Amino acid sequence: MNNLEWSSTYETGIGKIDNQHKNFLEIITTIQKVEKENSDVKKVMRTINELVKYAQYHFLSEENFMEEINYPEFQLHKQLHYKLIELLNIEKNNLELNQISLSHFLDFAVNWFKNHTVNEDKKIAEFFRAQI
Ligand SMILES: [Fe+2]
Ligand SMILES: [Fe+2]
Repeated sequence: MNNLEWSSTYETGIGKIDNQHKNFLEIITTIQKVEKENSDVKKVMRTINELVKYAQYHFLSEENFMEEINYPEFQLHKQLHYKLIELLNIEKNNLELNQISLSHFLDFAVNWFKNHTVNEDKKIAEFFRAQI
């Protein structure tokens, strides 16, 4: 399983975005805890729903920020968000159908988070700082 510790590698320097990213990782930690402590499938699925909804909220929040600062790659970034929600829902269904394991699902979510944050979200912050 991936390391879920927050690291400065993920830091964009924009407080609101960083806090939301930390919350996202925290929900993943909660899912792992629920699984370890009582393996309550229903509770795991409820927390996964929370993760998907939180991702949607966070993406909208980030998209609003991109629009506010006239971020040039806004459309492309928005598409990446859209694609992730789609994939998260597909993986969630696969999990419900027992086609994949919980650790596979969580690895997918964490890997996506790490790559997207480091490669894409940081670019928004760089653009923002260059404007000030
Ligand atoms: Fe993003
Ligand atoms: Fe983000």
